[in-house]
Amino acid sequence: MNVLPQRVKTEVENFLGRTPRSKEVFQKTIKYIPYGVNSNYRAWEPYPIYFVRGRGSRLWDVDGNEYIDYNLAFGVLVAGHSHPKLIDMVRDRIVDSTILGFEYDNIYRLAEIIIERFNVDMVRFQSTGLESTLHAIRIARGYTGRNKIIKFLGHYHGSHDYVLVATKPNLYAAGHYRYPSKKPSGPGIPYTALDDTLVAQFNDLESVENLLSLYNDEVAAIILEPVAMNMGLVPASREFMKGLRRLCDEYGVVLIFDEVKTSGKLYGGAEEYYGVKPDIKTMAKAIAGGYPLSVIAGKKEIMEEVGPGKIPHAGTFNSNPLSVEAGIITLTEILTREGIDRTIKYNMELSKAIDDILSDEGIPHNIKLFGNSGTIFFTDREVVNWHDFLRYNHIGMWWAYFIGMMNRGVVPTAPGYDEQWTVSVQHTEEDIEYTIDKFKDVAPILREDIPRMKIIEAF
Ligand SMILES: Cc1ncc(COP(=O)(O)O)c(C=O)c1O
Repeated sequence: MNVLPQRVKTEVENFLGRTPRSKEVFQKTIKYIPYGVNSNYRAWEPYPIYFVRGRGSRLWDVDGNEYIDYNLAFGVLVAGHSHPKLIDMVRDRIVDSTILGFEYDNIYRLAEIIIERFNVDMVRFQSTGLESTLHAIRIARGYTGRNKIIKFLGHYHGSHDYVLVATKPNLYAAGHYRYPSKKPSGPGIPYTALDDTLVAQFNDLESVENLLSLYNDEVAAIILEPVAMNMGLVPASREFMKGLRRLCDEYGVVLIFDEVKTSGKLYGGAEEYYGVKPDIKTMAKAIAGGYPLSVIAGKKEIMEEVGPGKIPHAGTFNSNPLSVEAGIITLTEILTREGIDRTIKYNMELSKAIDDILSDEGIPHNIKLFGNSGTIFFTDREVVNWHDFLRYNHIGMWWAYFIGMMNRGVVPTAPGYDEQWTVSVQHTEEDIEYTIDKFKDVAPILREDIPRMKIIEAF
């Protein structure tokens, strides 16, 4: 039975009509690659959209549709696609080899830049966000001699076993509001890997304090996204952040900020915004403008425990010259304070306009911003944790918004109702105006009686 209002149904029909070649590529690809994708977050119903190229603020799919891109590779491309300074660097660099098998001399320069900008003592580099959180947890364990870690319901720290728990459970699996369930994020994650992972409620200090007093001197680290960006965009309250710092000091626990996303949203990342200093932080995504680079940065006394015969840390591609040079150029010439400020200004313009349009249409909403990113919750309730997200946010409206904008040549956010948009240094005033204009067309559709589910499933 078709439960969709006609206007939403038309949007879905248009969406499918615009993407026949993606469907063909999917049908070929799925024979060789499960779900036709190489990261589960790219899987889509009825099929993923396949893209061929990007430039500046734009993307082109395999059907030739052009889009203004606010996904920006899940927040990687604050520098925009193929920034000219990075193109020049790559041309120069590749003739002198992209991997040396030894340390690269300019690594000291990247280390200095990061230490100064992000207020840390020492760093180690690798390629992905996953590696950075995995190693950060190991370093905290090695340093404290303890095994347990506390993570938060709805927070995502990459695809590795210790943290693939309570990432995106449904309301039933999420468990108690204050004592969330320890539900593995899928088959293949052994319960034994989770013996030492404890789950607390975000923005709820009592939930953390209860775990700490129960497990007292067994907890090595608390890891969190200071601004939770895998449940839309949910900032920690300042009191919560200060409280975590106090509890970590009291219980001798290493505080880890996962700034894989937030390090690209403000010039100094989340630490600068909150004025709370973690013991270790992890950074990735935007910091190298689209090249694979991640950082574990921390206090000297902790980081000095990493080394041969001490805490293990290794990786063949770590600190390769291409990523190092990309990091240097991105942080010093592209994501400068002025560059970041411009992305924030455009983001504020965009979100103010979206807010006004939704208010004029009488659509319940709640817009959250952090630096150059933002999200719309389709509810007028406050969302401060994953329980709230599941209970209040209207997922069907999000899908109608997403598909409506895609049909009009805008990728409005990363593809997922639990994601957000990002504005890059290559977005222009015209891009923002065009996006606002298209949002004006889409907003009235959201007044329809849309079911609270993925609208493709209801089609
Ligand atoms: C907060 C956070 N931490 C870690 C990761 C893992 O990064 P990667 O996908 O590069 O392994 C992600 C990825 O989205 C993330 O959002």
